[in-house]
Amino acid sequence: MTTAPAPASPGSPLDMVIFGGTGDLSVRKLLPALYMAHLHGNLPTDTQVIALGRQNWSREEYVEFVQKQSHPFVDSKALSVEAWSSFLNLLDYVCLDVTTRNEYQRLVAVARNNARRVFYLATSPALFTTICTNLAGAGLVDAQSRVVLEKPLGHDLASAQAINVAVGKHFAEKQIYRIDHYLGKETVQNLMVLRFGNAIFEPLWRAPHIRSVQITVAETVGVGSRAGFYDGTGALRDMVQNHLLQLLCIVAMETPTSLDPDAVRDEKLKVLRSLRRMSASDIARDTVRGQYFDGTVSGAPVKGYLDEDAVPPGSQTETFVALRAHVNNMRWANVPFFLRTGKRMQRRLSEIIVEFADLPFSIFANGPCSHVNRLIIQLQPEESIQLQVMAKESGSGMRMRPVQLNLDLETAFPERRAEAYERLLVDVMQGRLTHFMRRDELEAAWDWVDPIVRGWKELNELPHAYSAGTWGPTPSFELTDREDIHWAA
Ligand code: BG6
Repeated sequence: MTTAPAPASPGSPLDMVIFGGTGDLSVRKLLPALYMAHLHGNLPTDTQVIALGRQNWSREEYVEFVQKQSHPFVDSKALSVEAWSSFLNLLDYVCLDVTTRNEYQRLVAVARNNARRVFYLATSPALFTTICTNLAGAGLVDAQSRVVLEKPLGHDLASAQAINVAVGKHFAEKQIYRIDHYLGKETVQNLMVLRFGNAIFEPLWRAPHIRSVQITVAETVGVGSRAGFYDGTGALRDMVQNHLLQLLCIVAMETPTSLDPDAVRDEKLKVLRSLRRMSASDIARDTVRGQYFDGTVSGAPVKGYLDEDAVPPGSQTETFVALRAHVNNMRWANVPFFLRTGKRMQRRLSEIIVEFADLPFSIFANGPCSHVNRLIIQLQPEESIQLQVMAKESGSGMRMRPVQLNLDLETAFPERRAEAYERLLVDVMQGRLTHFMRRDELEAAWDWVDPIVRGWKELNELPHAYSAGTWGPTPSFELTDREDIHWAA
């Protein structure tokens, strides 16, 4: 395809500086997302992308690397020879060791004086403090600059606070974009519209009308080449602390006063602060850790976690977690929130199920009248919203069964859907903070997660084994079954 990119957005020149420019995230997500933004005219007119890495490469060598490595990650339908080659023209490369202060002069040499600067820190969080200090030391940070921090932001509350304090010395809170790419997903943003743009849900969106909420993020992928990072992290810190808690917040929050970033984030913060902290007995009863062994996923045999490259022998890192959480406030008193996430599960599924309470009385003698009304919001792989209602089967008599009212969002809105990273990168460039985490939000999430990590250690809770290609270990079913609630499958 040969299509010229759409005219770029006006605005002052922009320097997008990517730390970790040769890393996995840049190659697979950031550069393809920037290309898409370029193709659709969503980059400011005069944008240059400065990738930083330790390889001693020239610009040409970097461009060749991107051509080889990133090109395959661009949606082939969106590939245009002209737009791709004009995108490559926006790239520059600087070889720089981020820990060496005077090497930042190389960045100074290519950064433009009149440009707004966005620093995207796609590196280990252990480097965030050093990078920000060195950027400021080199005079590269001003009131216009923005910094984007990739997750994981620390590995516990103390480390997250230390990063926040260090970054906060050089960037004001409104200049800091803490990214959780789930907040960039179309369906996650749509959840806000579903809740706050419709009159029919709000009166019922509370105890005692809701019986339970469940949130599943199941992946079929294993840890792949990421064991070095993953083994020290585990599913609770990799997925629950951020993505699943963010989903929980959007389901549980009160109506914000507006869409203003702080109005939205204030409400999410209240939810996080209302999460009931787990005691040792809660942890033993209401959390389940799992680790996959070998099995079959999508018809192909796969290795177990302990056989993945670079996983230390005998590792007890969890690749699965299921837990029961409570939001201690008037709206949600006694409504269990079941969260579940895992790698190498039977199929890829991200779904939120809001199960409404049963009718207090039924005139239908024979009908299966319990657990009927459910709102099922599927985020991936399909984007859909289904409402399960009871209906009469055709024919004589009053036989009934649950059926789904089905809204397929991809059919309803067939226009192009931007990927999460593209949407969030455009938000950063345009200064929209609503879909990024504020410091207190991030810290409140760690504050809830930390006691669980500690509790597992103290209780010596080892992960339960589950076969790859299943829905996780047996105790995760017991967690819900004992309340007559059943996970999506
Ligand atoms: C990342 C996690 O944040 O999210 C990964 O670090 C996980 O382990 C990924 O695979 C899942 O994202 P998505 O968009 O594929 O659901």
